[in-house]
Amino acid sequence: MKYLFDVYRLKTPLSENLFERAKEVMPGGISHNIHYFPPYPFFIKKAKGSKIWDVDGNEYIDLWMGNYTHILGHRPQVIVRVIEEQLKEGIHWGIVYKKQIEWAELIRELVPCAEMVRFCCSGTEATMYAVRLARAFTGKKTILKIAGGWHGANPDLSLGIKMPYEKEESLGLLPDLQQYTKAISFNDLSSSLKVIHKNRKDLAGIILEPVVGEGGFNPATKEYLHMLRSETKKLKALLIFDEVISCFRVAIGGAQERFNITPDLTTLGKIVGGGLPVGALVGKREILEKTSPEKKSKKWERVLIGGGTFSAHPLTAAAGLAMLCYLKDRRKEVYPLLEKKGEIVRKGVQEALDQEGVAAVVTGIGSLFQTHFPFKKGETLNSPHSINRFTDIEKREIEFRIRMLTKGIHVMHGGGCLSIAHTDEDIEKIIKAARKVGKEMAETV
Ligand SMILES: Cc1ncc(COP(=O)(O)O)c(C=O)c1O
Repeated sequence: MKYLFDVYRLKTPLSENLFERAKEVMPGGISHNIHYFPPYPFFIKKAKGSKIWDVDGNEYIDLWMGNYTHILGHRPQVIVRVIEEQLKEGIHWGIVYKKQIEWAELIRELVPCAEMVRFCCSGTEATMYAVRLARAFTGKKTILKIAGGWHGANPDLSLGIKMPYEKEESLGLLPDLQQYTKAISFNDLSSSLKVIHKNRKDLAGIILEPVVGEGGFNPATKEYLHMLRSETKKLKALLIFDEVISCFRVAIGGAQERFNITPDLTTLGKIVGGGLPVGALVGKREILEKTSPEKKSKKWERVLIGGGTFSAHPLTAAAGLAMLCYLKDRRKEVYPLLEKKGEIVRKGVQEALDQEGVAAVVTGIGSLFQTHFPFKKGETLNSPHSINRFTDIEKREIEFRIRMLTKGIHVMHGGGCLSIAHTDEDIEKIIKAARKVGKEMAETV
């Protein structure tokens, strides 16, 4: 690894300097833990389409795409234009305006469970509100989440994210958390059912990503989703889909459209804001209406949801509305195209690594993919649990990342997402780079 880091260092001296400076004022030099990777992250200067450029002038094909946000590529004209227009009217008002209604109406039209919408500023906030609302609506306390599932830094769901799942995720979390939030294993029907039944009297809701981000973008099986839907219905608990990544990505109406299962609540983020900070909680009218300030009930009969100085920010609304309009108008071209690109990349990277004799498994759905490096052959990698347990994230995944960077490709978890801006030539380059990297990795085993 030392030699590899030296190659990276030679290409990125200005980034190394900036990182040293950043560490003096920001813990670890970053503001989101995922921004860090060893030996240090490169600093970006600009981005356009499928490409990004760092401060040292290196060009990369980007597969991280602003944390899976930029489905149209970086800085698309259709978004830039509406932001410029919005700036003529104002930056931030803190007062209601018409565009936020149009944005909410379009979400309602596109997302199956969305009868009403509450905007906030991040996916973290959206999942925090979803849990609070589920507890308030059902009058029960227990929330089940997927072991290994990430729902942002929301304290209620900061449990069972990284292995070992039984240990606390962080100092500073209330020890009582484990009493009211519990983990179930993704796609494991019988063990999940056991936990559901054990908690049946106090079950407020089950939250999951139907396409699990920390688990290789593996989709939940139809049987698993059907079981969760019918059990929550039976127990008068809420089914919550966290579609912060998957909505408008795996289908315009998200995984709930793709798998034809309608949850009670859904959390949104990323694409819905067109590239600006965003979160939203959507779902059934009778549930969302509990949060309305219009209700003349006493405060202890209402659900406190809806702070956020910047909630439904005008620039985000303009960008989000333009994004959703674009996707709606071109859904027939965009989604088949993204499927095709994703399929070619997954197959191509897998074949390239197979041919070079590197034990690797490429997983994903639609335009999403990840590459994993199992410790031994034959492991099934279909859940966060299996990926965390059976693959070499610490060493081989980081090695793959740095080697891909030195070939001009920026990956996250060995992959990322495709946008409509990724050309056939980009895809060819990604696969070629994976082959070269595979060859190097095979030589270093
Ligand atoms: C599935 C999922 N839920 C929630 C979040 C939190 O969203 P945010 O980072 O906007 O707070 C993320 C962030 O990556 C996510 O992937």
